Amino acid sequence: MSPAQSAKPASHAKSAELFARAQKVLAGGVSSEFRKASVPHPLFYEHGQGARITDVDGNEYLDFTLSQGPLILGHSHPEVLATVAEHSARGQLFAGQHLAELELAETLQRLIPCAELMRFSLSGSESDHCAWRLARAITGRPRILRFEGHYHGWFDPVAQAISGSDEAALGPRAAPTPVPWTKGLPPRIQDEIVTLPWNDLALVEQTLAARGSEIAAITTEPVMCNNGCIEPAPGYLAGLRALCDRYGCLLIFDEVITGFRMGLGGAQKRYGVTPDLAIFGKAMASGYPISVLCGTRTAMDLITRGEVIHAGTMNSGNPSVAAAIATIAVLERERVPERLERLGQRLAAGLRAAATETGKPLLVQGPGAMLHCGFTALSAVRDLRGCISYDKGRYAAFLRGMHERGIRLIGRGLWYISNAHSEADIDRAIATAREVLRGV
Ligand SMILES: Cc1ncc(COP(=O)(O)O)c(C=O)c1O
Repeated sequence: MSPAQSAKPASHAKSAELFARAQKVLAGGVSSEFRKASVPHPLFYEHGQGARITDVDGNEYLDFTLSQGPLILGHSHPEVLATVAEHSARGQLFAGQHLAELELAETLQRLIPCAELMRFSLSGSESDHCAWRLARAITGRPRILRFEGHYHGWFDPVAQAISGSDEAALGPRAAPTPVPWTKGLPPRIQDEIVTLPWNDLALVEQTLAARGSEIAAITTEPVMCNNGCIEPAPGYLAGLRALCDRYGCLLIFDEVITGFRMGLGGAQKRYGVTPDLAIFGKAMASGYPISVLCGTRTAMDLITRGEVIHAGTMNSGNPSVAAAIATIAVLERERVPERLERLGQRLAAGLRAAATETGKPLLVQGPGAMLHCGFTALSAVRDLRGCISYDKGRYAAFLRGMHERGIRLIGRGLWYISNAHSEADIDRAIATAREVLRGV
């Protein structure tokens, strides 16, 4: 097992100077709210290669953030970069049809169970938004049922806080109080959404029995990756499918994180439950901007006929399509999802052993290619209300300790693994965690 890198006082002087400059020109110094949470402050990066990223002060980190997930093959994968360069040399954006887009769509149709028809956009948020518009148009119903702690992008009306600090603020389980994530939402926006705790089929059934005629769709991450990386209880997804069929609403899987990580057919193939619509993004193109809304021929019909509008000047641009083609080719050829799962299980087992050895209540959950770590006395967490038990201050101290020893983690406890990580990298992370855990 490789030893943990010892903590040395890293300098972030250049980053600090650039961040001060950035605050004068970028609002808050960043281009996405999530980037503010970095330690010790948002850092400036210069170079990413494989599983490693280097900041402008020359500090190298073993990267388990993978830029919030997309870099499933690691930074700067040569085949991805070469394919992007080759396609880009013919032009960057045709805003018209091209063969590569068609080939990508045919590949996705072959791999993803629900993907009879599809449309490309740039981000997960956009494709999610289009799915709800479509569901409302198909059913003529106004509301979407969603779950506490799931993230479906930053657009109205799903801009709800995705973490909770106390259960009282979340309201009663059967009728939670949605907490807006942002100011500036339209006044009646909360009327468009019904929110429930996740993994509780009885509550969904009760809600549909009372309000089924108002609900256009149930939208869910098939694994609750954005809080606790919680897998669905046995039968839960199949139960949602059956309830949607009974009450005439659509089932939408937000596979922006699970897609390609849990297998090339997504979580829907893995769990054997086919939704009407699904959204993929992130890992699909190794960090180039592309997402896809796909669905059954029936569910996509109103878009086919132009009665529900989906558009976008930049959609299916050459570099993004090329990146998706190359990424999926490598994922298939090298059976990457299987390898990520094995590495993830090795990481989870090692972190659990380190927690036991050091006597720290670290709970590790998740299917492997992505995992969640957090400090709680609970032996399992199955919804957002359980996530409230996580000691965020303690995780922040753990994260700082890891960062000081050259391991880059996401603040919310989610770890992503790429095909560029070696077994030695995983073992180094475990050894480092053992050392840091002793001190937290
Ligand atoms: C499950 C899920 N859906 C949607 C999104 C939004 O995707 P994007 O950031 O590409 O808009 C995210 C982003 O993290 C996500 O995790």
